[in-house]
Amino acid sequence: MEAQREWIERLEYDPIEFLGPERSLLPKLDRVRDCIGSLVGADPRDLAFVRNATDGVNAVLRSFPFSPGGEVVITNHGYNACNNAARYAAERCGKQPGGATVSVAELPFPIESNAQVIEAIDATLTSKTRLLLIDHVTSPTGLGLPVKELIELAHRRGVRVLVDGAHAPGMVPVDLSDLNPDYYTGNHHKWLCGPKTSGFLYVRRDWQHEVHPTTISHGANSPGLGKTPFLAEFNWVGTYDPTPILSMPTAIEFLCGLKEGGLAQLMRDNHALVLAGRDALLNALGCDPPAPADMLGSLASVPLPAERVGDGESANRLQRRIFHEHAIEVPIFLLKGTLPCLRISAQAYNSLDQYKRLADVLPLCLESERN
Ligand SMILES: Cc1ncc(COP(=O)(O)O)c(C=O)c1O
Repeated sequence: MEAQREWIERLEYDPIEFLGPERSLLPKLDRVRDCIGSLVGADPRDLAFVRNATDGVNAVLRSFPFSPGGEVVITNHGYNACNNAARYAAERCGKQPGGATVSVAELPFPIESNAQVIEAIDATLTSKTRLLLIDHVTSPTGLGLPVKELIELAHRRGVRVLVDGAHAPGMVPVDLSDLNPDYYTGNHHKWLCGPKTSGFLYVRRDWQHEVHPTTISHGANSPGLGKTPFLAEFNWVGTYDPTPILSMPTAIEFLCGLKEGGLAQLMRDNHALVLAGRDALLNALGCDPPAPADMLGSLASVPLPAERVGDGESANRLQRRIFHEHAIEVPIFLLKGTLPCLRISAQAYNSLDQYKRLADVLPLCLESERN
């Protein structure tokens, strides 16, 4: 926050000099691009900045060259906003004869192995599928999907892959040179603890000429706004606040300095903490782990008894009760509209005591929910 405040001061001191892409903005963005590129194993020339993962997913979907009769595959664990973007893009194309459709791969939860994810997606891809949208870490269930295997599988079937990595950078290792996606978007403002409205969009060089930001601006006919036409378009999407992006090297340096083993150590510790927190909750609820530990990063969901939390209204009521009566912020929602789940997260500022306290109060809160 201090670093961002300094950037804001500098910007407001002389906005024209600071924000003018042809004056001093571009080299500042390029320095951050180098930093994010080394973090996620990508050539910086293939990385554009976006406001958030929703923005990145929309840019790809709304630029995608759907062919008549084409199909996009999403999953039932996908983030609602991004699944909506897929439906919107397909529907617009669907207005033309033989337009695009959306198919949903049903991933189980509770889940036993990566093989179940691969099977479910393999069974949903068809000869019409042009694009697969998968999460690196699923939002409702916190599952780290086997994205490398899924990308290989899709590529063998001639399908391009858009990975929604909203939660991944800073939570799990991300090496795009190894994963080899067609498109990958990630947030800086989640597990990298950057200021809000900061993320990146990677696009494989072959497809960059097709992908445009959701806001078309000067870059569409002013290639000088970036080192490539792709970067020129994303570097300027109208007047905006670049300070959340410019603060990222400071945020990353800070996170890397928290533990002797750097970011890798932080990720391991957060993973261990979320598992210990999950164990405390599972003990209190008397249930088995709903996902193997090696499918999790630093998010974990546990199912709640459906006879106590039967609908969305009761899930909201329980979440509000836990917050207002016990000062614990924890999301509770219905997966597939029927399975109530509670999701915990673990970051450097959390401790096991906090999850134990939640485990203590949860049965009591559930009991009063039934009454
Ligand atoms: C998988 C996934 N995609 C997209 C998003 C949206 O992130 P944002 O609101 O920063 O675009 C989230 C947020 O939790 C998410 O978990």
